[in-house]
Amino acid sequence: MLVTLIFLVGVSSSLALDNGLALTPPMGWLTWERFRCITDCKKYPNECISENLIKRTADLMVNEGYLDAGYEYLGIDDCWLEKERGPDGRMVPDKERFPNGMKAVADYIHSKGLKFGMYEDYGNLTCAGYPGVLGNERLDIQTFVDWEIDYLKLDGCYINPTAMDAGYPAFGKMLNETGRQILYSCSWPAYQEDAKMLPDYASIAEHCNMWRNWDDIEDSWASLTKIMNWFGDNQDRLAQHAGPGHWNDPDMLLIGNFGLTEDQARVQMAVWSILAAPLLMSVDLATIKPEFKAILLNKDIIAVNQDPLGKQGLRVWKKTERGVRSRLEIWNRKLYDGTYAVAFVSQRDDGIPYAASFTADEMQLPKGEYQVQDLYKDEGVRQWNSEDHFEVRVNPSGVKFYKFIPRASSDAIKSDSGFVSDAIVNVLMNNS
Ligand SMILES: *[C@@H]1O[C@H](CO)[C@@H](O)[C@H](O)[C@H]1NC(C)=O
Ligand SMILES: *[C@@H]1O[C@H](CO)[C@@H](O)[C@H](O)[C@H]1NC(C)=O
Repeated sequence: MLVTLIFLVGVSSSLALDNGLALTPPMGWLTWERFRCITDCKKYPNECISENLIKRTADLMVNEGYLDAGYEYLGIDDCWLEKERGPDGRMVPDKERFPNGMKAVADYIHSKGLKFGMYEDYGNLTCAGYPGVLGNERLDIQTFVDWEIDYLKLDGCYINPTAMDAGYPAFGKMLNETGRQILYSCSWPAYQEDAKMLPDYASIAEHCNMWRNWDDIEDSWASLTKIMNWFGDNQDRLAQHAGPGHWNDPDMLLIGNFGLTEDQARVQMAVWSILAAPLLMSVDLATIKPEFKAILLNKDIIAVNQDPLGKQGLRVWKKTERGVRSRLEIWNRKLYDGTYAVAFVSQRDDGIPYAASFTADEMQLPKGEYQVQDLYKDEGVRQWNSEDHFEVRVNPSGVKFYKFIPRASSDAIKSDSGFVSDAIVNVLMNNS
C-alpha cells in the first residue's frame, strides 16, 4: 500500500516545478489580509508590519500548536521595505520597523523551527509603492538568499501581464540557480485573468509551487462566496493543474478576523481543503477567539487539505433558486485511500437550517455502503447505503463537512476512530 502511494506521489511531482517543495499545499501565516500596509507603529504597535509582529506571531505559532498542526511558513507581505534602495543597490528593510535587519528576523523564525516567507513584486514597484525587483532581479535574489528566506511571493503590480509568461519562469530559473530551496509563489495568472487573458496554467504549474489565480480576498462573506463561485465556475480549466509541488491559490484564510461568523469560517476551511488550497492564516494569533482557533486546528480537516494524492476537489452539484445562483452546493474531493471528503455548503441566508437529501449520483459517490464521519464532529458516525438518499441539514451560510469511507476501504485502513491515521500520512510526507 505505502509503496504504491509513494510511487503515485513521485509520478505527479515530476510534472511540477522540481524543487522538492510543496508536495502538499503550503501551510502558514501571512501578514497581508489582516495587517495590510499598517506602518504606524506608534498608533498601532501590535498591528504594524514589523519585527515585533513577526516575532510575536512566531512565538504564538509554536506555543499555541499551529506549527504542530502543520502551519510552518511565517510570511511578511508588502510594506516591509524602505522607499529607496541602499547605495549598493540592495533592498533595505524599513529601518524603524525592522531595526535589526531581515537576517535577524530570519534567524528568529528559524530558531523556532518555522520557515521564513518574503514578498516582492516583479514590476518596478510593489503594489503598495515600494521598490520592485524589475532590473535588479539577480541582486534581489542574492539578498533574499543572504537572508535565508524559504518562500517568496512574487506579486505582479507595475508590470505588463504579457511580460509574465517569460518573466516569471526566468525569475524562477534564477532562484533555482542559487541552490537554495525557495518555495515560489507566483501572482502571474491573477493579473492575466484580470486582464481577460487566458493564462497558460500548464506552464505556470511547471514554474511555480503555487499561484494566485484571481482577486484578493477581503474580510467578508460576500468576498469569500465570490471567490468560491469563481473557483467552482472555472474548475474545468484549473483543477487539473493542481498536484504535489504545484497548487492553485484562492488566497488567505479570513478565519478569526472581523467579517465571518463561525459558520462562515467553517465554510472557508472546508472548501479550501476540498480545493487543495494553501492554508495561509492572516489573523492576530494573540487575540483569536477559541472557536476560530479550533477551526484552524481541526486536524481531520487539515488531513483532507494535506491529502498526499494532491487531487483538487470539485464543486459537483449546485442548485439555483428563483434565479439566485448557487444557494446550496456540494463539493467533493477524492482522497488517496479511496475515501471522499464531501462538503454541503449553503449560501442561503434566510434564517433557518436548510434540510435536503441527495442521491449518490448528485454527490458523485460510487454506489455502495459507507461509514460517514462529520469532520466538525457535531454529529455521530452514520452508516449510509447509496440506495438511500443522504440527508443533511445545513445552517444558513454554513457547511456540513463529511468524510465518506467505503465499507471495504474502512475495514482495511480504519484506525480506532475510523480516521486515517496520522502516522500513515506522516510516513508518506517524509518519504515523498
Ligand atoms: C533546480 O532545478 C533542478 C531541475 O529541475 C532540480 O533538480 C533542483 O532540485 C532544483 N534546485 C533547487 C534548489 O530548487
Ligand atoms: C520601469 O521603470 C523604468 C524606469 O523609470 C521605465 O523605463 C519602464 O518603462 C518601467 N517599466 C514598467 C513596466 O512600468
